[in-house]
Amino acid sequence: MPEGRGIFITATDTSCGKTFVGSLLARAFKERGLKVGVMKPVETGCPLKEGRAFPEDTFRLIEASGFSAPLELVNPYRFTEPLAPTVAARLNGVTIEPELIEDSFRWISRLTDMTIVEGAGGIAVPLCEGLTMGGLAKRLGLVLVVVTPQRLGCINHTVLTMEYARSLGLDVRGVVLNHIEDKADESTPYNQGELEGLGIKVIGELPHISGVERLPDEIYTIATFLL
Ligand SMILES: Nc1ncnc2c1ncn2[C@@H]1O[C@H](COP(=O)(O)OP(=O)(O)OP(=O)(O)O)[C@@H](O)[C@H]1O
Ligand SMILES: [Mg+2]
Repeated sequence: MPEGRGIFITATDTSCGKTFVGSLLARAFKERGLKVGVMKPVETGCPLKEGRAFPEDTFRLIEASGFSAPLELVNPYRFTEPLAPTVAARLNGVTIEPELIEDSFRWISRLTDMTIVEGAGGIAVPLCEGLTMGGLAKRLGLVLVVVTPQRLGCINHTVLTMEYARSLGLDVRGVVLNHIEDKADESTPYNQGELEGLGIKVIGELPHISGVERLPDEIYTIATFLL
């Protein structure tokens, strides 16, 4: 395993399963004996705990990976407002510095075999002046994994995400079709085939899972593909 590999997890929208998929992947990689690093460069919508913003996604990723590093490196920016990073930063008088994120990422990836970086929201969300989430993935030199909810509308959202990724010259490894809801809709049996028919690689489908004590078989297939 070459040093400093990593993946950037984005999604077709917010609340599509980035943290969920990222955490399962971290566990699957760890089971394979890899030293897994994690990063959530900017987390917004953090609840207040003892008067401080508590980055829940970041802690979920840390717990899943077992990665131990100073919080400031894993999650350099956190805000309580459930808003895009640029807006939350502006409201707090903070300037998000991509150099700082990049330095943290390099530090983490030097210590690990595989670093999982979770974006905020979708790929075109602005991170700071002139840089989006996709732009950050490019800057960090990471391949992209797109989490797409398995539901009606996902074809349009996925194609738009892919087109934007392509416009940035990103290497998109593929899509994880995530059964975020406990029920199927009429599009469910068709979505994977339709996406593949449009030339989009579907790495795997992740079922809806209520308990995550045992990793679902599908995540091992996805992890193997990404290694
Ligand atoms: N396959 C699944 N089975 C069961 N629950 C899921 C699944 N995927 C996601 N969820 C649940 O859906 C919710 C949203 O998922 P998650 O927090 O991972 O999304 P996200 O894309 O990381 O959101 P954000 O944009 O806020 O970072 C969470 O409560 C998560 O536990
Ligand atoms: Mg998340």
